[in-house]
Amino acid sequence: MKILVAGGAGFIGSHLVDRLLAQDHHVDVIDNFVTGQKINLKHLADNENFELFSGDICNLESLPREKYDRIYNLASPASPIDFKKISIEILLTGSQGHLNLLQLAENCGARILFASTSEVYGDPLVNPQPETYYGNVNCRGERACYDEAKRFGEALTVNFQKYRGVNSRTVRIFNTYGPRMRPNDGRVIPNFFMQALVGQGLTIYGNGQQTRSLCYVSDMARGIETLMESDVDQPVNIGNTHEMTILEIADLINDLTGNNTPHIFQDLPENDPKVRQPDISRAKNLLGWRPQVDVREGLKETMEFFKTCL
Ligand SMILES: NC(=O)c1ccc[n+]([C@@H]2O[C@H](COP(=O)([O-])OP(=O)(O)OC[C@H]3O[C@@H](n4cnc5c(N)ncnc54)[C@H](O)[C@@H]3O)[C@@H](O)[C@H]2O)c1
Repeated sequence: MKILVAGGAGFIGSHLVDRLLAQDHHVDVIDNFVTGQKINLKHLADNENFELFSGDICNLESLPREKYDRIYNLASPASPIDFKKISIEILLTGSQGHLNLLQLAENCGARILFASTSEVYGDPLVNPQPETYYGNVNCRGERACYDEAKRFGEALTVNFQKYRGVNSRTVRIFNTYGPRMRPNDGRVIPNFFMQALVGQGLTIYGNGQQTRSLCYVSDMARGIETLMESDVDQPVNIGNTHEMTILEIADLINDLTGNNTPHIFQDLPENDPKVRQPDISRAKNLLGWRPQVDVREGLKETMEFFKTCL
């Protein structure tokens, strides 16, 4: 198949590209490198089935003029440190950018997958979060540029599906980690490793009792592709159900790295979710997908990657 991956130079996107190329598909990537890195795709330079287009999905002119069978839209900054710096660009990427890709999908009859997020549930009042939960989102808060862009992107997707006949899939991605995360991107796993590997105390926001469920990136890439190739057009949560407190994650990373400097506690940022765990019944029942990588094993692999970033 001929496949376009928007955001393919990013963390999850680049692993998905590797997975698709391993199955002999032809894969084009479009990326504006706002948070992605060329180095994530460097090993593919000589691969004849791969082409990299430098461009912004918000700009119609920069989209490749090719006919695709599948379009994966993973393009979007996803880290809270970007929310203050490029909030308008994030809003435009989830709206105008995704609209452009939906129109491309419509024009070439491609199936399109939108990478949504657990952030559509906001600071959830139910835990775990099933896909039927509408969420608890502050549309004016610090995270609104991201949360609302994704909610709008989902609404666009579902309306193109209903009224324009575009065959679509929507994945709600929960916290994912692994090699190729940006070391300085402000999310919990890179923060902790970059501090622990140089013997610093780990920064804990609030009292550290807030929870996250961590999915290893190979499980995520497999889940995303399985959804794309299924006949499921409802949104599907993909993530790991193993919920841990931030303190438990910090202690595990200190254990793996041999760091024993005491943690540093700071105030919790506004609207930071207190609990986060996917209900993955839909993924299990409809896709036959479940995570396979144990968190300790996944974190060991990730640690080796962050060592190379020092
Ligand atoms: N990593 C997670 O835990 C997580 C959780 C929920 C959802 N997601 C979603 O998964 C997708 C990938 O996330 P990631 O963690 O790999 O982030 P990432 O920042 O590493 O990757 C996003 C990629 O999109 C590119 N991009 C951004 N705006 C663009 C634009 N306008 N035009 C072209 N390219 C653009 C970036 O340069 C980057 O390469 C995102 O849509 C994100 O919202 C990720």
